Amino acid sequence: MPNAKIAGLGFYVPEKVVTNHDLEKVMDTSDEWIQERTGIKERRYAKKFEETPTTMAARAVEIAIERAGITREDIDFIIFATLSPDYYFPGCGVLLQRELGITHTGIGALDIRNQCSGFIYGLSVADQFVRTGMYKNVLLVGSEMHSMGLDFSTRGRAVTVIFGDGAGAAVIQPTEEEGKGILTTKLHSDGTWAEKLAMINPGSHGGYHYRKMGEAVDLGYPDVEYGEAFVTQKMFDDGLFYPQMEGQFVFKLAVQKFPEVIQEALDEVGLTKEDIDMLVPHQANLRISQFVQRRLGLRDDQVWNNIQRYGNTTAASIPIALTEAWEAGKVKEGDLVCLAAFGSGFTWGSALIRW
Ligand code: COA
Repeated sequence: MPNAKIAGLGFYVPEKVVTNHDLEKVMDTSDEWIQERTGIKERRYAKKFEETPTTMAARAVEIAIERAGITREDIDFIIFATLSPDYYFPGCGVLLQRELGITHTGIGALDIRNQCSGFIYGLSVADQFVRTGMYKNVLLVGSEMHSMGLDFSTRGRAVTVIFGDGAGAAVIQPTEEEGKGILTTKLHSDGTWAEKLAMINPGSHGGYHYRKMGEAVDLGYPDVEYGEAFVTQKMFDDGLFYPQMEGQFVFKLAVQKFPEVIQEALDEVGLTKEDIDMLVPHQANLRISQFVQRRLGLRDDQVWNNIQRYGNTTAASIPIALTEAWEAGKVKEGDLVCLAAFGSGFTWGSALIRW
């Protein structure tokens, strides 16, 4: 069986730059607080009512397919990872197919809902499809538009300051080169703390999961009828449709799981942390990445960080960072590249790629 490789990469971030000082104007926060806790200086926001996760993805895809030496028609499968889709359903995979003008090809499109780990989950799926010979040009994208759904009042500051918009894309193809390409992927999850980092409304939970977590929040049920339960007045009044996060809880688990899942991948292929040439971690928080870097004993130039400029773009963060690292000449032929992510679910994973 051939290995699968990343044959082309591309990314797109919207033009609009939103600095920490811009956020200071709408909520009680400070540039100092944000930089000290997260490393973030600025992030990008998509153009309202013009750009969407699908349109941003298409911009990234154009670059990735050109670099992979293929045309849109050559794409034989789409995998789309996002937590901020254009629609509740259908997913962004089919919307991207339409945006690219390749509906006539009838190719399959799969939507991935694994938040910050979405790209690694998608990469693992693409890897299996390509190695078995089922597909030869899998298009994998991660794209997010957080700006549309954040709470810009002081109430939402702990979450809102972290996230930004953007898209990244990769073309996965088979390679005949011995020992090259994706060496392994590791995927994990633990749903025990699903609501610790979540956007639970609107949803079909009927309040059940909230109660299960011991947080008896009255969502306005059960007085509403079936057809009214999806979006309630209570949700609007209390801002319950914004993402929620227990930051310190997430932080503690992330710094444990990142090194663990990287080591697991290394062990599987018989390599050590000294063999890693470039680590591209999901851009959750600069402090998390620095912690992981220290644990692995990597130099500054062996870890790609761009959260300072883009914030946390969840499923888009790894492909954006990987593309930037590659463009900067930091990912070279023969290098061992390690990708790792942790996020809502909780889900986490890693990938090792011999470039
Ligand atoms: N500006 C100013 N103050 C803020 C703030 C903001 N944007 N957000 C929260 N605060 C305040 C809190 O209200 C709290 O005030 P209090 O002490 O008066 O109650 C104080 O800062 C400390 O809040 P806390 O939540 O304990 O801060 P923290 O040190 O844990 O930092 C995070 C918050 C979110 C930066 C940090 O927990 C984190 O990065 N966690 C991981 C998040 C993550 O990576 N998520 C993505 C996973 S993929």
